[in-house]
Amino acid sequence: MESTNADEMPLNILILAAGLGTRMKSELAKVLHILDGKPLIEHVCKTALSLKPKKVLVVVGHQADEVKDTVCRSFGETTVEFVLQEQQLGTGDAVNSARSRFEENGSTLLVLSGDVPLIRSETLRELIAVHRLEDAACTILTVRLDEPFGYGRIVRGDAGFERIVEHRDATDVQREIAEINSGIYCFDSRKLFSALTRIETHNAQGEYYLTDVPRLLLDDDETVALFQHDRPVEVEGVNDRKQLAAIARMINDETVERLMKESGVTFIDPRNAYVSADADIGRDTVIYPNVSIEGKTIVGSNCVIRSGTRLSNAHIGDGVEIRDNCLIVDSEIGDKCTVGPSAHMRGHAVMVEGSKIGNFVEMKKTRLGKNSKAAHLTYLGDATVGEDTNIGAGVVTCNYDGKNKHETHIGKDVNIGSDTMLVAPVTVGDGATTGAGSVVTKDVPPGELVVGVPARSARRVKSDQ
Ligand code: UD1
Ligand code: CA
Repeated sequence: MESTNADEMPLNILILAAGLGTRMKSELAKVLHILDGKPLIEHVCKTALSLKPKKVLVVVGHQADEVKDTVCRSFGETTVEFVLQEQQLGTGDAVNSARSRFEENGSTLLVLSGDVPLIRSETLRELIAVHRLEDAACTILTVRLDEPFGYGRIVRGDAGFERIVEHRDATDVQREIAEINSGIYCFDSRKLFSALTRIETHNAQGEYYLTDVPRLLLDDDETVALFQHDRPVEVEGVNDRKQLAAIARMINDETVERLMKESGVTFIDPRNAYVSADADIGRDTVIYPNVSIEGKTIVGSNCVIRSGTRLSNAHIGDGVEIRDNCLIVDSEIGDKCTVGPSAHMRGHAVMVEGSKIGNFVEMKKTRLGKNSKAAHLTYLGDATVGEDTNIGAGVVTCNYDGKNKHETHIGKDVNIGSDTMLVAPVTVGDGATTGAGSVVTKDVPPGELVVGVPARSARRVKSDQ
């Protein structure tokens, strides 16, 4: 008996991502459009890799270099391979362009679409299991949709699967069919590539349709299996901006609901909070309307985040209050800190426990020590500030000399007077004070009081008079 040894064949994954996505009406290739903070292609690659296949190959075409760079940035240079489809002649041609990369040894080839981002690895595992169990040449993942418009329909006859008919080629009767082709399939790779040589372009779009392959396999007396799944949302495709927005909304709703139910987070207006699926928020934290929480942001418990604030890859401790309209990017805020309104932290800025920054304060690559304060109109860049120090209103670390950036170090228990300019590189010692309006160009020893432009020791100023 001839055996295909289906369960011994290795698993390979092919992701179709060469199309422009005309219906997006965009200069950007469809798979580079962002969903939940990540390009569509990244969602699909991540799921593919989670199945630990022998090889993941992405078919690129439109903006091939950008798509490759995007994938390599997220997963490294060697994890995923690429093949170029020179011209976008259809999904059948896209698969065919990968022929030389698979043909030699047979494999179970899972074909995914770069524009179907929500598919879960659990579902794909089930699909592969059905495919192997049925010893099929092809297994198609299908779902039934209330609104199947636009999708390829699954035509079933008395003997089961008959063919896939694309929406544009379908008759009115066929368009009534609710069961659709998800664009996700498992193939016996050798049988797939053999059938692909026989597909033609007699259809409404004049393209090589991958969807013609199952019918050809059936004609060869091969088994074509259908795996009908009961979670239609997973196979929703992104073909236009409306679908992209609808899927984004759905992911966001799920995230917000999970945070309310499982983590005990209060959302004042759940419809108007934008939270990345990768973010984490602690118990009894209150999120006001129009807050965006992006990337791998972590917010502790008992925090209050007021309207208009955006947190991106931020780490926020417990009991933190972030007032209205703050922007916190790649930065860290310790327990019981107060931030804003209208404050900006970026470039790995750090606020240590109990510290405070207020109105129109910007911190870049700066560490503000425990219980220290900068309450008004201040720029702190490339600086360190010790504990219990007060930075007056309108203070600036002048960190850039036109060519290079320089550091400012301020000790503990320091009083920086309002409107002080700290011309870096410069150090202000523990317990020192600068007078209002002083321009500090030289290091200030501990305990010293400096005043004036340029700032000098107040004792020297006095003795000069
Ligand atoms: C396709 C299926 C349809 C199915 C739907 C599910 C075909 C002919 N139709 O239709 O039955 O219901 O997916 O979402 O396959 N691509 C390439 N090269 C090409 C053409 C497309 O790489 O030459 C890629 C696209 O980038 C995309 C994927 O293949 O990621 C699907 O192409 P798309 O044009 O979106 O197909 P649909 O019309 O959605
Ligand atoms: Ca599509």
